[in-house]
Amino acid sequence: MGIHDDDIAKVRASADLVALIGEHTDIKRSGRNWMARCPLHGERTPSLSVNAEKGVYYCFGCQRSGDAITFVQEIEKLDFVGAVESLASRYGVQLRYTTQGEGTTRARKRVLLDAVAKAVDFYHQRLLDSPDAGAARGYLRSRGYDRSVVSKYKLGWAPDSWDELAKHLRLNAADLKDSGLGFVNKADRPQDAFRARIMFPIADERGDFTGFGGRILPGQEGPKYKNTIGEAVVYDKSKLLYGLHAHRQGIVKEGEAIICEGYTDVIGFANANILRAVATCGTALTEEHIKLLKRFSANRLVLAFDTDSAGLAAAERVYEWEQQFELDVRVADLPPGVDPDDVAREDPAELARAVREAIPYMRFRMGRALSAGDLSSPEGRARAAERAVDVVSEHPNELVRDPYLEEIAQVCRVDVARLRELASKPRPKPQAQRRGAHQGRPHGRTQQEWADHEVPNAPDEETQSTSPEASLTDSLATAAEDEALRLVIDQPDQAARLHANLFGHSVRQEAFQALRDHGFEGAADHCGPQAADLLRRLAVEGFDADRDDVLAGVARLAGRRTLDGISRGLRSYEAAAEARIEVSRSFTWLKRELEKLDERETRRRAIDELLPWLVSHAEWRAR
Ligand code: UTP
Ligand code: MN
Repeated sequence: MGIHDDDIAKVRASADLVALIGEHTDIKRSGRNWMARCPLHGERTPSLSVNAEKGVYYCFGCQRSGDAITFVQEIEKLDFVGAVESLASRYGVQLRYTTQGEGTTRARKRVLLDAVAKAVDFYHQRLLDSPDAGAARGYLRSRGYDRSVVSKYKLGWAPDSWDELAKHLRLNAADLKDSGLGFVNKADRPQDAFRARIMFPIADERGDFTGFGGRILPGQEGPKYKNTIGEAVVYDKSKLLYGLHAHRQGIVKEGEAIICEGYTDVIGFANANILRAVATCGTALTEEHIKLLKRFSANRLVLAFDTDSAGLAAAERVYEWEQQFELDVRVADLPPGVDPDDVAREDPAELARAVREAIPYMRFRMGRALSAGDLSSPEGRARAAERAVDVVSEHPNELVRDPYLEEIAQVCRVDVARLRELASKPRPKPQAQRRGAHQGRPHGRTQQEWADHEVPNAPDEETQSTSPEASLTDSLATAAEDEALRLVIDQPDQAARLHANLFGHSVRQEAFQALRDHGFEGAADHCGPQAADLLRRLAVEGFDADRDDVLAGVARLAGRRTLDGISRGLRSYEAAAEARIEVSRSFTWLKRELEKLDERETRRRAIDELLPWLVSHAEWRAR
């Protein structure tokens, strides 16, 4: 039984978020927003920012965000329905409840799950014996996947065609879309969601297949992985862990789960005979994931991915999870930037050692802060000590912090009393983090998404993701995309000038789509948790830039990406001569238009020319 959407919206609209928060902490106006010390994580300086007009909050300290309902959920430890009911009685909103039959019933879910299961079989058969899957079979063999691996994980091949799956399944339009397997295209014909990809079917914890991750073959254009879309009714990536069902026994038996970022890493672990790895499906680790793993008695989590990546929440959250769920979170002792899958193939014993000798999360972070510094001079040691203290201060428990501080004091040869003093000072907060605010480099994925690093001539992944220019370009890109989202939050009519395919970052793509289709008020219900968090942060930050600057920024980014794509295409394809001329003409035109963005007089026209062109070019390429 659920509550009517209209009534939930009514509750949201009647709640006074500033007053609600004000019951738990002092809240003061600051510019357009309100600021408070965050009651959700406890702190000395205010990091919680509230946009009263939009009814959302974002905490720059603990990265929690939400609206009146989520706030009540968190502060009163209620579930969603409980929080809505509590607010409704307080603000006098009459609630109506939906009964069985409305929404997604069990029977409907069953229909969709059956469709996905049939798709799994279809793709799997294609991979096993269809002539057009030869290249895919060769690729998997080259990665050391034999027949038994392919069968165990039911890997598949989505043929390079528009609608073979749709034809085979003959689903009606609603089922096709809601299963995430396809959609009805503009020509009113059913079309497959996946095309020319190696398919990794994803099962929920019960073993029902709910969706797919689809990998492109090396050398092809497009994002390396495509996953089942967020709107699919039975696929909820914030609750899915690839490999959980297959490896549940190993997890229960060892009381430990290994968490990776990639499907191939999970399989790599299994090939190295370590049968307790799972992966998130193109999303960051959520509390739902943690709860799920706890249900399978995992008391120890070993993170086997680059902990700076988007895959992990803020450190404070991890410590809270450790405490709340009585967990021990560790980090596998792998060299930075190395995929577990690579180690699995080269040296399985080394992989086993890395898991066995996994380092407590806190120690791992402290060690990295220390080793990044120059410990040979007093100045270097002082800086390293400061950085390490910053990291240690994130831990909520003084009894845990103190021994680490002593260690820092020893290594950096400074007085531990000074470090304790330093640790008790408030850390820098909101203002410094505003604009392009992000911890670590949550945007590593951007590059992978638009540039498959396996194309010949492309710089290799390692140097790309760690060079200062790459991370600078990366953060400029996200900053420009965030600015565009702020613009649309502030001026919703501007959404019509933009399109999701202008965004290079998948979370921002998702956020934009939800914003455009459902407005700010409905967006959070139509996108994943990461995109929803992002939108709330941007809403509290507000928009104060020049509209043309922002649009030009988006056009410039998408334009450069397209230029890159075109030049790669020219290099790697044996296209016919006329086609090549045509393409190089577009290249020259695009380059000139991009230059016009830099001149005051030509800028506005160039924006108007470029945005629609880039949108349709991206659509054309996606076909
Ligand atoms: P990686 O780029 O690390 O790929 O992405 P991988 O798992 O090592 O794959 P191989 O070994 O190159 O084949 C890790 C995960 O991030 C998500 C996918 O879930 C992937 O498994 N991802 C990656 C996407 O969703 N989209 C992308 O374009 C890239
Ligand atoms: Mn890999």
